[in-house]
Amino acid sequence: MNGEKIKVLFVCLGNICRSPAAEGTFRHLVQEKGLSSEFVIDSAGTGAYHIGESPNSNMQKAAARHGITLDHKARQFQVEDFDRFDWIYPMDESNYRDVLSLARNDQDRKKVVKFRTFDPDAKLGGSVPDVPDPYSGGMDGFHHVQKIMMRTGGHLLSQLKKNDSK
Ligand code: 4NP
Repeated sequence: MNGEKIKVLFVCLGNICRSPAAEGTFRHLVQEKGLSSEFVIDSAGTGAYHIGESPNSNMQKAAARHGITLDHKARQFQVEDFDRFDWIYPMDESNYRDVLSLARNDQDRKKVVKFRTFDPDAKLGGSVPDVPDPYSGGMDGFHHVQKIMMRTGGHLLSQLKKNDSK
């Protein structure tokens, strides 16, 4: 670690399903490795519909199955988040475009990377897949999202640590 914390922000639409799951899962993985003091971890939504709400109860249940507690209150992404964070990880193409549309310059744009860029199971060579929106579907969709969070969060953490030690 070079003294500076690594500041990461996960972004979806409502900030009640995918991005709080990504935030809580990544925090859990960081804690397991004893690296909590090295990271700032947060999430936000591009939309304003659910500001102040706790994570969706089905998303909480899917995370709890892996021993993960989702403790977040939904907030909307703000342009100042480009100053507060080193990396911004949108969950899908629509979130990605919405965040990029708020970028003020190339420095802001370089911080925005679609989350599943780090999914070790995503196919190489093609476009980066979305984290599917589970909001209107059944419980299976939430479990599927949680599995994506586990494997993608784990790989993201190892990549960030590798770059940090250079
Ligand atoms: P999220 O899921 O973006 O993963 O938090 C959604 C939550 C709410 C809505 C859409 C997606 N909504 O339309 O209210």
